[in-house]
Parts: sequence; C-alpha cells; structure tokens
Amino acid sequence: MALVQWHEDLSVGIELLDQDHRCLFSMLNELYDAVQYGTEATVITSLLDRLVLYTQDHFRHEEALMAECGYPDLINHRSEHNHLTAKVSELRQRLTDRSLESLSLELLVLFKTWLTSHIRISDFQYRPYLTAWLQSRNDEATSASLGLMPERLPNEPTSRLATRADSSLECPIGGWVAKGGA
Ligand SMILES: [Fe+2]
Ligand SMILES: [Fe+2]
Repeated sequence: MALVQWHEDLSVGIELLDQDHRCLFSMLNELYDAVQYGTEATVITSLLDRLVLYTQDHFRHEEALMAECGYPDLINHRSEHNHLTAKVSELRQRLTDRSLESLSLELLVLFKTWLTSHIRISDFQYRPYLTAWLQSRNDEATSASLGLMPERLPNEPTSRLATRADSSLECPIGGWVAKGGA
C-alpha cells in the first residue's frame, strides 16, 4: 500500500510544480516499499539521496519562480524549505546499517507529513501571485491550462520556466508521473 496518494486537491494550479510534487510523492512511495521489503541498504540509501536531491532542486525551482513573480512571503517560505532540508540532512547523517529501517521510516513519515501540509498551506499561498504574474507575461501559455511546459513559452527563452536550473529536476521515476497517480 502506498504511503502517500496524490489528489487533485493538492494541485497548486501550476502544472510544472504539480509534476514536481507528484514525483516527490512517487519517490516517497518507492522508498517506503524498499524499506518495507527489506531491500538492501545501499539501494535504500541511494533512493533516499535521490529523494533529497530532487527535493532540493524542487525548492530551488519553486523559490526562483516566487522571486521572479515578486512573491512577498518568499523569505518565510524559503525558511520552511530550509527547515526540512536541515532536518532531513540530520537524519541522513545519523543513518547507519543498524538504524536504517527505523530512521528511514522516521524520515518518510516526517517527509510525508511535512510535504502534504506544506503544499496545502504554504505552496497554496503563492498560487494567486504566480498565476497573476504568468498571466501578465504570457496569456497564451497561461491559457494552456497553466501547463507551462517549456515549449509553451517560445517568447521567453531565458525564463527560469523554460530552463530548469538543474537537469536532475527531471523526474527520475520513468519520466513524469502520470496525472492522478502517486
Ligand atoms: Fe514550497
Ligand atoms: Fe512545493
């Protein structure tokens, strides 16, 4: 059984960011399955490291978009991101073969609780700002259901929307996770 399930009511209305969130959910479930089935330690730690890297990339991307649209609460939002990153790093450093299962589960529960709550409360707050900013810049792209895929922004070749800062932002689990799945 999955640890977390994506629901449409978790959508922030920006498809590119929803894709990041769905991918994070998918990675959490993959890691959870690996821990449950007693997968070997090296595989679990590599799944964990990938989850942490992807999360950090997502945070950077989200913060860059908030900065571009002039989101007024960016500092607080960034500090929430930093808080999770610090907590996860601390747990990761304490991870040893003996503590692997218990600490991985602790980290997964922390991640799951933090992520769902953060999306519903904090990520939802940037939605009107980001949406208005995008509408003011490119109505055509916006009308494409705020899918905001890079090819929908032909007039913005240098936009951070069109060029992700880090190629590892590409969802590592078999391409982008299908909408509606987790
Ligand atoms: Fe966020
Ligand atoms: Fe987010």
